[in-house]
Formats: sequence, structure tokens, C-alpha cells
Amino acid sequence: MNAARLNYRILRIRLLAWFDESHRDLPWRRSHDFYPVWLSEIMLQQTRVEAVIPYYERFLALFPDIATLAGAPEHDVLALWSGLGYYSRARNLHRAAKRIAEEGLPATYEAVLALPGVGVYTAAAIASISFNQPYAALDGNVNRVLSRLTNGSADIQGSAQALLHPRRPGDFNQAMMELGALVCVPKIPRCEQCPLEKNCGARLAGTERELPVRVKKTPARRLALDLVRFVIDERIFLVRRSEEERRLAGFWELPERHLFPRLRGTLEGAFTHQIVNDRFEVSVWKAPPPAALPEGRWFDRDELGAIPLTTMARKALAVQS
Ligand code: ADE
Repeated sequence: MNAARLNYRILRIRLLAWFDESHRDLPWRRSHDFYPVWLSEIMLQQTRVEAVIPYYERFLALFPDIATLAGAPEHDVLALWSGLGYYSRARNLHRAAKRIAEEGLPATYEAVLALPGVGVYTAAAIASISFNQPYAALDGNVNRVLSRLTNGSADIQGSAQALLHPRRPGDFNQAMMELGALVCVPKIPRCEQCPLEKNCGARLAGTERELPVRVKKTPARRLALDLVRFVIDERIFLVRRSEEERRLAGFWELPERHLFPRLRGTLEGAFTHQIVNDRFEVSVWKAPPPAALPEGRWFDRDELGAIPLTTMARKALAVQS
């Protein structure tokens, strides 16, 4: 057995022993069935574990199986996703559920990858966790772990696949994610808590704080946005994003102030909201409604929990004068 293989074997054993002993009891770790695993991996795309948990539990309570999800109106699916962001995930999940309800459950990595909203990372996570198939799931966290373990390997994908535990690929992938989330964190990793400290190339070379090499981010674009709250007797006027919008089609939000050039209003408050690389500096105005309103609807406050609202609209509605 050559040295590299021996290292991989020891790494796997140590990592899995650590995971078996100390992994977090996350709700999607209670079953390996396809649906709960798929749902969790879609929700976890670009979203932190703590933010996902309550959404995940509500979603499964309302849509306990794929047939129920497939039969639900899109509006209800979006309403339940409302606040979690990246809403194309909810639309794709719903489309995929309809397809699965007609064609049956996927059973291979390739079939999962063919579903709307599933890329190579998500397909590898699902295939390994749910079908026990040996695909390494490589996201930002795992990339950081591997970059440090190998002290800056150029072939992270190759290392990921070589290191994967062939018989417990799902646990192994989740152990790598867990290590990246809890121990091998960005900037200052917690090496003294790491089960792989003695096997880590970066730790041995003293480069763990420099890896992975960071690419400089482009600074966010700053955009000013003025929204207006028309309120009568606790009812609030919202407009709906058209079906042609690339993002957030069908979501409800406050109208923009520039639609009403002669409006006299008072400034209620302001906040910032970042969407990918755009940083919106949002001012919220309050005004009596003008005689002519654009297409939209008046809502009672207690209706707002049951409609798809953009996160920006939620923040704007929460602004206090
Ligand atoms: N991030 C993506 N998938 C995950 C999982 N299964 N467990 C924890 N964090 C994750």
C-alpha cells in the first residue's frame, strides 16, 4: 500500500469516527428516503443550516410526500418558501415533483441530475446520502477542507473522489460538510478540535490560515430604491411581480415611489438589502393612496403570512416609523 492510500484510509476512519460521535442532529438526517433528502439539499443551496431548519419542518408538515407537493398550487409552495430566498429553487422543486409524480422516483445520480434545479453538487449529495452511490459532493465548505488537507492541491475534485469512503459515501460527504461548517471554518480554523489535524497538509506546513486562496470579490453595486406604503384602516396595498420577471415572478411587494411623481409622503425608515451583488439602500415612505393606483390589491395584515412576499417586502413592512 503506498503512502497516499494509507493516508486516505486513516483520514476516512478518523473523519467518520468523529462524525459518528459528534454530528449535529439535523432534521434531514433522520431518514435517507429520497424526498426529505432532496428537499433538504435544495433548501441548503446557498442557505445556512440554521435558516433552513424551520422552513424544512414547515414544508414537510404541509407537503409530507411528493404527490402532495405535486398537487399543490405553485402559489402555496412559494408562500411556504417566502423569506428563504432564491425562489427559482421552489419553482424547480415543484416542477420536479410533478415530473416524479408522473414518471416515478429517480434511482441514480444521472436521474437526479436530470431534475430541474439539481446541479452536480446536489446530485452527488442526494445520490450518496439516499442511494449510497459513491459521488463526492464538493461545495464551498468541502473545497476549503480539501484545499487545506492537501495543502493547496490543484485537483480538488480528484482528491475529493479519491478520499470518498466507498461504502459510506453519504456519511462521508456529510462528515466533510460538517467539518467545514464547524471546525475547518474560513479564516481561523479550529485545528485543535479537528480529528484530521495530524494528517492535514496545511496544518503541517503552517498555511491553514492562507488556504484556500481567496479570489477577490467585486464590490457590491449600490442602488437606491424608494418604496411606498399606502395604508387604510390597517389594510396595505401591494403589487405583484409579473410572470415575465426573471426573479420572483408572482411575488407581492410594495410599489416603488417613482410610479407616483406627485406623491406627498413621509419617510418611515430605511434599511439595506443585498441580492447577490446588488446592495439596495431602501427608503420606505408612507402616504395616503392617490386616486389612481396601479394594478394591485389591498391586503389585511393577517393575510400577509399566507402570500408569497419578497424578503425585501417583509423588511419594508417591518419598518417602524
Ligand atoms: N449543506 C448541504 N447539504 C448538507 C447536509 N446534508 N448537511 C449539512 N449541511 C449541508
